Amino acid sequence: MKRIIIQFGGTGDLAKKKLYPAYEHLSKKGFDFTVLALGRRFQERSDFLKEMVSNDASEEFLDRLLYQYYDMKDPESTVPLKAQIEHIIQDQKEIELIYYLALQPSLYEEAIRQIQTIDSQLSCQCHLDKKIIVEKPFGFDLESALRYNEILLKAFSDKEIYRVDHYLGKEFMQNLLILRFHNDIMRSIWDNHSIESIQIIFDETHGVDQRLGFYEQIGVVRDTIQNHIMQIITYLTMNEPATLTPEDIAVEKVKVLRSIAPVSEFHTGRYESLGASSGQIVQTPTYAALKLAINTYYFADVPIFIRTGKMQNEAKSLIYIKFKNTTQKVMHDESIGENGIIITIHPELTIDISMNLKEPDTSWKSKPVRFRFNQAETFGANTPEAYEQIVKKILQGDKSLFPSMREITESWRIVTPMLQQEEHMEVYPVRTLPKFASDLARNNGFNWFD
Ligand code: BG6
Repeated sequence: MKRIIIQFGGTGDLAKKKLYPAYEHLSKKGFDFTVLALGRRFQERSDFLKEMVSNDASEEFLDRLLYQYYDMKDPESTVPLKAQIEHIIQDQKEIELIYYLALQPSLYEEAIRQIQTIDSQLSCQCHLDKKIIVEKPFGFDLESALRYNEILLKAFSDKEIYRVDHYLGKEFMQNLLILRFHNDIMRSIWDNHSIESIQIIFDETHGVDQRLGFYEQIGVVRDTIQNHIMQIITYLTMNEPATLTPEDIAVEKVKVLRSIAPVSEFHTGRYESLGASSGQIVQTPTYAALKLAINTYYFADVPIFIRTGKMQNEAKSLIYIKFKNTTQKVMHDESIGENGIIITIHPELTIDISMNLKEPDTSWKSKPVRFRFNQAETFGANTPEAYEQIVKKILQGDKSLFPSMREITESWRIVTPMLQQEEHMEVYPVRTLPKFASDLARNNGFNWFD
């Protein structure tokens, strides 16, 4: 079977930073495919390679990486593209065309239309399979997501549509399910009897940088909350699936999403100098803080506090599960520390369980001590990047790491009211936590896990 990835957005930031390195690793590992990158930035393949691919990329990979100038605004572009695809697949008996859309959501509709045109005119004496891969955010809001899906379903079956959220390719995400569902001791403490609150912190030091054009249409809610954060929440709070198959997992995830109550506390801001370097001041939120509640038997009354955004002082991604501290009252000792589980995703993957143990040479004084799992120390540093996992699954035709349309629809339902509140934005100085994030903590009587 000859596989061809037709890369829309082939000269974009995502392709350069994530997809081409993932393709190269997979080609080194023996996966067999050709990539046809499409873009407007370069006329010549040599310029494309110089700018888009690392200098030390192997010859073998470069041989697989083709380039074609493609202007999506020109409907005639489909003619040379169709011809190029026919050229690549000539003499092949079995073909799989993988259309990969790494584009702004506003371009999806047009891209899908062009793919349909190519698809309907392509001629080959072969057995032809196809897939379409759509990057997050899937749509711009609930209405557009449903519309894109409808358009997609005219040319592809749901089985052929892969909606990407690269967080599902991350080791820590998969580990969350294993931690929860392969350990009996976790089961008895993973609910509102034991858990007091959950924090999800997702701070980044970089700004929107070269992605300004993309980001100004998107903002933080569409960029990370509608997808990555919602997926993390489902993995943290769903009931055990019947099995760890994609279908069974999706059923449980949808239940969680449907049980998320309307968000009552939500604030956004943008960092001070956004757009200054490009001469533009962009009114797009780059930071958000919110409180969520999930109305299920197991998680009712466990507030989930989230903060996420750009231009922070320290890059930090973590989940903090804080357990109740009844012990302070029962033992009449205010100094007893809390128990918690800290899942750190960045800078490195670690899971800490914090327990109170006796401090030597004291009379019944305890101190919080951490029991740590470190992914790199235990299993080695060679964990594949999320995108490598995602592309591998696409090539293998395995949909276990892709959100279903139901999940995406429910996530849009939850975040739509947030999008409507975006105009009340605080401007925060770079490298500082926006005031609304500290206020959220103060007003709800907790401290961010810093
Ligand atoms: C992307 C967002 O989906 O995820 C970016 O568009 C964000 O804005 C990135 O920086 C974070 O992903 P990772 O893999 O670096 O944690």
